[in-house]
Amino acid sequence: MRVKAIVLVGAALAISGCGSQGEEAGGDAVRLMMVEQVQPTSETYWNAVQYISDENGSREVTPQNDAEWERTAEAARQLASYGEQLQQPQYAEGHGSDWMAYSQGLVEVAGQAEAAANAKDPAKVLEIGGTLYNVCSSCHEKYMSEPAGISPSWPDDIHEAN
Ligand code: HEC
Repeated sequence: MRVKAIVLVGAALAISGCGSQGEEAGGDAVRLMMVEQVQPTSETYWNAVQYISDENGSREVTPQNDAEWERTAEAARQLASYGEQLQQPQYAEGHGSDWMAYSQGLVEVAGQAEAAANAKDPAKVLEIGGTLYNVCSSCHEKYMSEPAGISPSWPDDIHEAN
């Protein structure tokens, strides 16, 4: 099999550089939750399935046993619950009405992500992982103080797996 991809790079989000503190009421709580919970949990999901191609050749990372698949599914369940929490007043306060839609989008995609993990389908986990990334990015584009840093910009050598 010829694969040439790291489709998702969690680090791309980590280096986003969110310079200023949120001025709105929900800002600090949101940031804390993102950094301490949403980001690490997303990385657990994204790291579960990877197609890596570098100078050492190509290799595929997938969950190796039931426990690893369950960890992937659990990460997805956590993400769904973060999406629910983001709709609570302490996080939603000060944001526009589409905040709810973005948060609910996270809940829904996380549900698909869990289904993919439960089905033990690596290709699907990879695909939904990409959708998940888009959900993060679309809310960030709207609500982050410095959105430029986190717009999806794939390095040239990164492509969809084929
Ligand atoms: C409903 C909107 C929303 C969704 C969905 C969302 N985020 Fe966020 N995120 C924010 C906001 C707003 C901030 C900035 C908070 C602040 O600094 O005040 C943020 C900040 C972050 C930060 C901190 C960035 C920095 O440099 O300070 C990380 C990391 C992050 N989000 C990861 C994620 C990931 C991963 C996902 C998807 C699984 C995600 N977020 C989904 C709204 C969202």
